[in-house]
Amino acid sequence: MSHRPLFALATGVALAAPPLNGGWVVTTVHELPAQLVVDQPATIMFTIRQHGESPLAGVSPSVLVRPADASFLTMRRRVEATPTGKPGVYRATITATQVGALSVEIDPDFHGWRSPLLDIPVVARVASAANSRTTAPGQALFVAKGCVTCHMKSDDPALAEQRWIAVGPALNGRTYPAGFVAQKVKDPSALRPTLPNNTSAKMPVLEVSAAEAEAIALYLNSRRVASVPR
Ligand code: HEC
Repeated sequence: MSHRPLFALATGVALAAPPLNGGWVVTTVHELPAQLVVDQPATIMFTIRQHGESPLAGVSPSVLVRPADASFLTMRRRVEATPTGKPGVYRATITATQVGALSVEIDPDFHGWRSPLLDIPVVARVASAANSRTTAPGQALFVAKGCVTCHMKSDDPALAEQRWIAVGPALNGRTYPAGFVAQKVKDPSALRPTLPNNTSAKMPVLEVSAAEAEAIALYLNSRRVASVPR
């Protein structure tokens, strides 16, 4: 297997970490819809964790949406989210008004931070109930679960808009044996690599199902870049 020490972490901090002005959060969408159906409201639930750790209660998050092909000058529609009663967990109901894709951004109401998702496909109608339940692709989940905030993945141009905090090791060009990612996500305290000195950063337990973890693993393994030394 290709699991090895993480010298990438130290270099990543020096080269690419943005300054941590104010604060940052990890936003995790619980069940990311694989697609939306036009004019059909869909509720998305998400957890906001300050610095990836404590659930952030007492904020007023919202979700910003607009058709993905709209000009960037088009105002996003702001949908207020409501607290669920569980600290740090909020929900909002969004509706896509045209077929294509919906651009979705979560505003956690915290120091101007934004958690943009990858565009969610919007279809005219669902062919069958089974179709509407398929797991979203790993790339979209890597973003929507908040992995992207801690793990640099600069070998994927689709993630260029994402803000990255150098907390976890860079996952560029990394591949993992079957089951590794799912196990890591389920119990992050297991499979801990030897981190460079002075690093005690821990990976949080996020709302990720086994099927979602497998989808993320597929995504990571498909992104191998030959030029990255292994
Ligand atoms: C708050 C920051 C944070 C978030 C969010 C996060 N991780 Fe991590 N991750 C870490 C840290 C820190 C480590 C290294 C320490 C450890 O293994 O516990 C790590 C380690 C890993 C490793 C092992 C790397 C290696 O080669 O040993 C994998 C794989 C991984 N994370 C995947 C994920 C996935 C997938 C997600 C999203 C579902 C995610 N992480 C979310 C911080 C984070």
